[in-house]
Amino acid sequence: MRAATSELVRRLDGLVPETALILGSGLGDLVDSVTDPISIPFGDLEGFPQSGVSGHAGEIVAGYMADKPILILSGRAHYYEHGNADIMRLPIEVMQAIGVKRLILTNSAGSLREDIPPGSVMMISDHINWSGMNPLIGEADDRRFVGMTNAYDAPTMEEARVASKAVDVTLHEGIYMWFSGPSFETPAEIRMAKLLGADAVGMSTVPEVILARFCGLDVAAFSVITNYGAGMTGGELSHGETKEMAPQGGKKLGKILLAMLGASNQ
Ligand code: HPA
Repeated sequence: MRAATSELVRRLDGLVPETALILGSGLGDLVDSVTDPISIPFGDLEGFPQSGVSGHAGEIVAGYMADKPILILSGRAHYYEHGNADIMRLPIEVMQAIGVKRLILTNSAGSLREDIPPGSVMMISDHINWSGMNPLIGEADDRRFVGMTNAYDAPTMEEARVASKAVDVTLHEGIYMWFSGPSFETPAEIRMAKLLGADAVGMSTVPEVILARFCGLDVAAFSVITNYGAGMTGGELSHGETKEMAPQGGKKLGKILLAMLGASNQ
């Protein structure tokens, strides 16, 4: 971790971002809002995982968004690529080590709610870990017992609500349920997820939320809805659809994030 941390500090050349952003599938366009960008391929940072998922760039882009220093991980590794729930541990620890205080996660997700259609943005207010996996399994000491009651930072969520009103973009809120993937859910699983209280389903984010809370970072997370859950419309789901639909909601999310960072005192 030390090698990656010192290399990142060297490449950032004095930039100290307090907010970091992880971009999900098809949401890479958000880096276009970064001014004075510094790009660092994950491959240049020892121990950073490579993402083999198409639609994920696999680089850090650091610079300014709304005149605030920001560090963006464009692309993430997923549990379903390797079977390691803690695959994002090193990048999150490195971010904490360079002074990041707040992590904003984004993903693409399937909606379980007719009133949250594809192209919408949903702020995650809480999650259900349906995978049975946890990135802290095997952690040796009592630090592993991380409280998750306030996993999603209330002040940041309020900033997002205010920002969404300022830019006139509807921001839904709901519960995200983590399925391991990589196969999509079955219609029966989607019906179950609804019964259990979920509003959206996806294959990422939850392990990173747990790791970020373990590292003491504040967390907020947003889903861009790319489709209705399996069986809700009759059509088959595909990653192609995710990549095609994500940029639409991604633009809306970009507006919210820019307004949010602009108004933030971090
Ligand atoms: N299920 C799981 N992950 C997803 C979906 C979905 O319907 N859409 C985008 N990511």
